[in-house]
Amino acid sequence: MAQSSQLPGFYNYSIDDRLSTLSAIAGLAEEERAIVNGAAGLTIHLADHMIENVVGLHSLPLAIATNFLINGRDVLVPMVIEEPSVVAGASFAAKLARAGGGFLTSSTPPEMIGQIQVVDVPNLESARFDLLSRKEQLLELADETDPVIVGLGGGARDVEVRTIEQSTSGPMLVVHLIFDTRDAMGANVVNTAAEALAPLIEEITGGRVLLRILSNLADRRLARAKCVIPADALTFESDGRTFEGGQVVNRIVEAGALAAADPYRAATHNKGIMNGVDAVVLATGNDWRAIEAGAHAYAARHGQYTSLSQWGKTPEGDLAGTLEMPMAVGVVGGAIRAHPLPKVTLKILGVDTARDLAEIIVAVGLAQNLAALRALATEGIQRGHMSLHARQVAMAAGASGDEIEKVAARLVEEREILE
Ligand code: MEV
Repeated sequence: MAQSSQLPGFYNYSIDDRLSTLSAIAGLAEEERAIVNGAAGLTIHLADHMIENVVGLHSLPLAIATNFLINGRDVLVPMVIEEPSVVAGASFAAKLARAGGGFLTSSTPPEMIGQIQVVDVPNLESARFDLLSRKEQLLELADETDPVIVGLGGGARDVEVRTIEQSTSGPMLVVHLIFDTRDAMGANVVNTAAEALAPLIEEITGGRVLLRILSNLADRRLARAKCVIPADALTFESDGRTFEGGQVVNRIVEAGALAAADPYRAATHNKGIMNGVDAVVLATGNDWRAIEAGAHAYAARHGQYTSLSQWGKTPEGDLAGTLEMPMAVGVVGGAIRAHPLPKVTLKILGVDTARDLAEIIVAVGLAQNLAALRALATEGIQRGHMSLHARQVAMAAGASGDEIEKVAARLVEEREILE
């Protein structure tokens, strides 16, 4: 996308104008526009091939977050979410981050872990040695299960053996097959490979293989984002009160410190990150339960649940944020193939690889976290929430078209909005 993702006033455009602008920037064809606005898209017949016992379809709003600059590239971000304020928050925070050069991201190779549980092993230590000495054979066998991925440069990378000396069912071994799944999320690839290794693992260990399944704690498949927000960009006024940038930096750092130290706050802090993450994961047809499971397990990896992001102050007094988390998303296979929307959202994002998508998602998570912390640490979250909530109340009360904005504005003015 050559054009900037800054679209001032996008919020005030009509839906048609938003879609026309988006289509012009992302080069969407007529059929793709129809998929985005819901005129075409998932049919009940397609759905019937996706899951079992289908009786209907379920919809959620699809919106575009603006202002994202990621590794110097402008990105318009499709987000699927039912919660007001999230898209506005992401766009606002992306604008703040832009003032400091946008988001810088990186990621590890897309390596997933397949777990093979081995019980009734006569001698754990000796089995571990024997497995490791046959590593090449195990890797070759795993590679044979997916020549396509191997042809694309992926495939089995390593075998690790973990001994669990004590469990409620006694000692056991867990073999980890590390597999580069390239642009696929990889659950099917890894599960197939893990199942294929089971007989050889039984033969080598003299034990009995039980589970053969991917781990959602995808800590070898991490994506990272960072941003620096100039303190000046954080100065703002609310209700006649001025929040000075340096003060906002300090407050956000203090808010981040609570999340780092306290699991009760960390859960909510991370929930805010997942507001952004899940919305893009959903918009791109990926498995948000896998991402949620991986995120929270990663947040607890040191034994205490903590925040996924960190906020600090640079020597210049600016705000610096980082986020690192597992991001097992794909751009091929699964629902991405079956559902018409993901192909279009991936086109809007301008991504071809799973790693590029993972990095954008983490940048959105960091933006979302920034938006929440800035509000929480200054004017409070309810002010912004309530004006958006007011629109839903207005619609529920029967307002339509232009009336919605008018009624909502009036409700906010008169502080009539209650949850
Ligand atoms: C609400 O969906 C998300 C927040 O609670 C996140 C946070 O507290 O950081 C606002």
